[in-house]
Amino acid sequence: MEVVNVGLGERSYSIYMGKGLLPECGNRIKNIKTGKKIVVITNPAVNKLYGDTLKNSLTGAGFIVNFVEIPDGEEYKTINTAVKIYDRLIDIKMERESPLIALSGGVTGDITGFVAATYLRGVPYIQIPTTLLAQVDSSIGGKTAVNHPRGKNLIGAFYQPKAVFIDIDTLRTLPKEEILCGIAEIIKYGIIRDRDFFEYLEDNIKKLINLNEDILIHSIKRSCEIKADVVSKDERETDLRAILNFGHTIGHAIESLTNYKKYRHGEAVAIGMVYAARLSLESGFCSNKDYDRVVNLINAAGLPTAISGLNTNAVIDSLYLDKKVKEEKIRFILMNGIGSTEIYSDISHELIRKVLSH
Ligand code: NAD
Ligand code: GLY
Repeated sequence: MEVVNVGLGERSYSIYMGKGLLPECGNRIKNIKTGKKIVVITNPAVNKLYGDTLKNSLTGAGFIVNFVEIPDGEEYKTINTAVKIYDRLIDIKMERESPLIALSGGVTGDITGFVAATYLRGVPYIQIPTTLLAQVDSSIGGKTAVNHPRGKNLIGAFYQPKAVFIDIDTLRTLPKEEILCGIAEIIKYGIIRDRDFFEYLEDNIKKLINLNEDILIHSIKRSCEIKADVVSKDERETDLRAILNFGHTIGHAIESLTNYKKYRHGEAVAIGMVYAARLSLESGFCSNKDYDRVVNLINAAGLPTAISGLNTNAVIDSLYLDKKVKEEKIRFILMNGIGSTEIYSDISHELIRKVLSH
């Protein structure tokens, strides 16, 4: 088992990762000081696959366990779903010390974190992410949220989990397209912070797609280390943490303009990373060679690198709704070559337009 620490003073926690962690996590959770009652929040599909294993592990460690199922899908990441969870927590008489566990992908993780942050003004929660994207990104760092009809993740809180358990065995049942979405975020970490890791991914991308265990563990661990390092330096995104949004500015616009139906989050991020790399190239911040390497790796991963028929005005309008807008200026995370990124807020509309219609 590998362990990565997220250093945040009294809110520090560990990310445990390896094979076979789910059946044995009950005893580890016992070591975290919490109440005896636990509520697991999950969706029907993941409950069917992993609910019993988790339940046995928790009851074996002496916990009283209840499961709350929420419907599967981004469209249910809403305040209405949160209210239904509150209702159940009140029925079950969950108290301040009683932890929640999020078992599934980022949708369940984000909503569980949001409920944990707000129910009784805050109860502990634990993340057990079962998608690759959630394992390398959404389960770490304490961004919790639900969507508003006018924008994604507009209602939320920074609220850190008590622990994260990543069992790579759960990825065996994850559809290939979902694996690729996680790989998009893994590639992002190489681009923003670690050129050697990017090279490692270039050398091993096919094995990663095929879930080679050594490559997978190294890639998840390195991604978690980079995210943990960034979050521990800037938990509430005053500056540095924004680099984690590389590719997300245009990615979010693409998701929103296609009503979250055409592209998965990771696919939109993959396209967004290509546009961000192109903006970096056109602004003179990175070389042609580095730009090509980014496009080639995303392509080799089997992820989309372009979108046709984009309405550039609609994209620009949509960029202004993004949470990354500051003083009416769109902030772009651009790369100064692979492994290094910076935040820029003076990119002209003309250049954005040029890159979008490339
Ligand atoms: P998701 O939670 O919708 O999961 C994708 C699908 O995989 C679902 O249908 C789910 O039921 C299924 N699934 C989950 N685990 C499975 C398994 N092991 N086997 C088979 N099927 C499984 O999507 P996601 O990509 O995990 O998360 C996307 C969400 O994460 C978005 O809402 C996004 O906003 C959020 N996010 C949050 C952060 C953050 O920092 N909080 C970061 C990135 C993304
Ligand atoms: N996924 C971006 C962040 O956690 O800040």
